[in-house]
Amino acid sequence: MTTTKAHELAKGQREISIAEFFEKNRHLLGFDNKRKALLTTVKEAVDNSLDACEEANILPDLQIEIVDMGNDRFRIIVEDNGPGIVREQIPKIFAKLLYGSKFFKYSQSRGQQGIGISASVMYGQLTTGRAAKILSKIHPTEPAHYYELKIDTKTNAPQIDQESKKDWNKDHGTKIQIDLEGFYQKGQQSVDEYIKETAIVNPHANIIYVNPRAEQYIFPRASEEKIPVAKEIKPHPYGVELGRLMKMCDYAVEKNLKQFLMGSFSRVSASVADELLEKSKLLPTKKPKSLNREDAERLLEAIKTTKIMMPPTDCISPIGEDLLLRGLKKEINAEFYAAVSRPPAVYRGNPFAVEVALAYGGALPKDGAIRLMRFANRVPLLFQQGACGVTDSVTKTSWKSYGLNQSGSNMPVGPAVVIVHLASVWVPFTSEAKEAIAHYPEILKEVKLALQELGRKLSKYTAKKRRVSDELKKRGHIEKYIPHIAGALESLLGLTTEQKAKTEVELAAILEHTRGKVEDMTFDPKKNEDFDEEFARIGKEDEHEESS
Ligand SMILES: Nc1ncnc2c1ncn2[C@@H]1O[C@H](COP(=O)(O)OP(=O)(O)OP(=O)(O)O)[C@@H](O)[C@H]1O
Ligand SMILES: [Mg+2]
Repeated sequence: MTTTKAHELAKGQREISIAEFFEKNRHLLGFDNKRKALLTTVKEAVDNSLDACEEANILPDLQIEIVDMGNDRFRIIVEDNGPGIVREQIPKIFAKLLYGSKFFKYSQSRGQQGIGISASVMYGQLTTGRAAKILSKIHPTEPAHYYELKIDTKTNAPQIDQESKKDWNKDHGTKIQIDLEGFYQKGQQSVDEYIKETAIVNPHANIIYVNPRAEQYIFPRASEEKIPVAKEIKPHPYGVELGRLMKMCDYAVEKNLKQFLMGSFSRVSASVADELLEKSKLLPTKKPKSLNREDAERLLEAIKTTKIMMPPTDCISPIGEDLLLRGLKKEINAEFYAAVSRPPAVYRGNPFAVEVALAYGGALPKDGAIRLMRFANRVPLLFQQGACGVTDSVTKTSWKSYGLNQSGSNMPVGPAVVIVHLASVWVPFTSEAKEAIAHYPEILKEVKLALQELGRKLSKYTAKKRRVSDELKKRGHIEKYIPHIAGALESLLGLTTEQKAKTEVELAAILEHTRGKVEDMTFDPKKNEDFDEEFARIGKEDEHEESS
């Protein structure tokens, strides 16, 4: 046999394990530099803890600690009071990439890929050579289980360095410790900021955070309301693509096509299934596994031309206007707050909902662009702002009419923080690092509608504020003349000093009577709860003014 170039190449060809792939491409998972690696690791652990607590219907109590060990090495410790993890699962969860419970579920959660925490463990091991330490307990009467884990990247399998039972003075929960190479810096994309923003959109969580400078921050729970356990739904036919449909058929447990369609998709009733099968000329009794490519193609075509009810949207659990406002007021000092929660909508068969909120004025810096905070399923997105669909919607909204400055399609300028939250059963991120939201037109449109509604609330406030300041100026002028008028009356009518003083008081009373009380016109930020009522009133005044 002649040895060809192809034979030579064949010697170097072999399977690449997923762990080896991400070991080389760690930037895809958010580990591009030391600073980001520190944040990503904290974020993966915290997101998991909050998800686990919510799934178990527990109000989260989180302790997060970052210890500076010198030489760019940090120790990250995250402890939760969640349901804990069954012993046999611990090694796979923390030391095997693409292993998790959320990928196949259509329900709203922070994690979705099954790669977050094991990638952090891998990064730690890669940069410090140290194993991750995990302690988890699932019941008060059972012992906790302790593991020291590494990933064998060649096989993407867990390597257990240590394993033991331990006493842990806690009913249930999980504590993880990862050592890694990192860099700590305060500022906009810091761990401190991530935790603060997490506290804003998770007012039901109690968070204690100690940063590498040993400064402790306590974010107390602002709401005792538990987040309802996210409902799981099935994929909607409108969102399915050919490859996926064929794979679903392959894995189908149902005996025939009709049952498969009804059982695997949301909103496919018996009559919808009949219609789909008839249009695609497929027998209802056909085995799903026997569907070939042409069959699947016809079925997909039938789906496109059949009216199917939109998926149920009660599976989305938005934060809600009230809690958004509470979270915002707790962490951001401003003079005016507003929030808008849009009803759920659908993109590619996936239900989603957009919520926005705003803090304005007060101590917020007046110069420079507004601060945009983006969130997806209650997770702050700190990177890739420019590449995010949400940013696009914000800059394409015309803020000038709402009282902020803006040149062209740039970020508006003014003393404001704007929050945009997207809640969905599947958040379309632009990459595995989950940093930016893809430009789905349905999502962009909802964000814009929400921002416009928010903008209208803001403009009512800024207009009222302007009117009040104009009024106070005018009144100041008039008040200045009161002593002069009284003086003139004194000499014209020969008033006594006492009568003159009385006249001054009376003139001031007339001024107040005709122009309203000053204290009614100034805004007290602490009375912000009354703004909606206030708005209703101002709104009416505005309408009245416009029509008269
Ligand atoms: N603190 C925890 N308590 C209970 N279960 C946990 C905890 N952390 C992780 N898990 C379980 O481990 C799984 C894997 O976590 P991992 O972060 O790797 O992936 P994910 O959260 O599913 O998705 P993503 O990659 O998007 O974060 C989770 O799906 C969850 O079932
Ligand atoms: Mg996760």
